[in-house]
Amino acid sequence: MHDHSVVVGLRKQRILPLITSDDMTLGAELIDALVASMLTTVEVTLRRPGSLDFLSSLATSARLEVGAGTVMSGSQAKRAISHGASFLISPGYSAEVHHVATTFDRLYIPGVATATELMQALNKGVRVVKFFPAATAGGPDAIRALAAVAPAVQWIPTGGITAESVVDYLRIPEVVAVGGSWMIPSDALHAQDFATIRGALGSARRSAENN
Ligand code: 3PG
Repeated sequence: MHDHSVVVGLRKQRILPLITSDDMTLGAELIDALVASMLTTVEVTLRRPGSLDFLSSLATSARLEVGAGTVMSGSQAKRAISHGASFLISPGYSAEVHHVATTFDRLYIPGVATATELMQALNKGVRVVKFFPAATAGGPDAIRALAAVAPAVQWIPTGGITAESVVDYLRIPEVVAVGGSWMIPSDALHAQDFATIRGALGSARRSAENN
């Protein structure tokens, strides 16, 4: 079976920046910072009232591939797709979100944190999972233990990962990419401090290249 194009892109960049914002004035400069770091596949979480419009403002740039995160329901999944999401991520498995993703030919990446959840997702045909919340659900050792029983699964750990801990996840062969908000810190985003954001993105990029 061929990998979805989103997975191919993620495997190249090895880091998935996660953005929570609905500030429509950020667009151009944020896109430039992401492109400069060659981190062009990103996740926008649907956690703000204006998150869908924000997602749309990034997705209309031909330079980015934008997925929707924190997708909790089928109706939210449909709206995310109509706003330009090319993949859908949720904190756990949702049959509704999976159905919408399949109907519209989008990749669905559900979260799992235990062996039972992994088995349930596998039984639904899922092959790419988010390991969430990574730091508190056992970190890199937990992924290694779970990957050993399901070798065909590809992992995207997210949740509580930092500039320091990212390398511990990047070293695991079954990890396609490591997700998180540490490289676009919310306080820097709020302050439109693009020097800090560019620095954090560049450092994440170097970690991905060197590990
Ligand atoms: C997620 O939605 O995947 C996590 O909340 C991201 O976690 P982080 O902010 O700790 O990276």
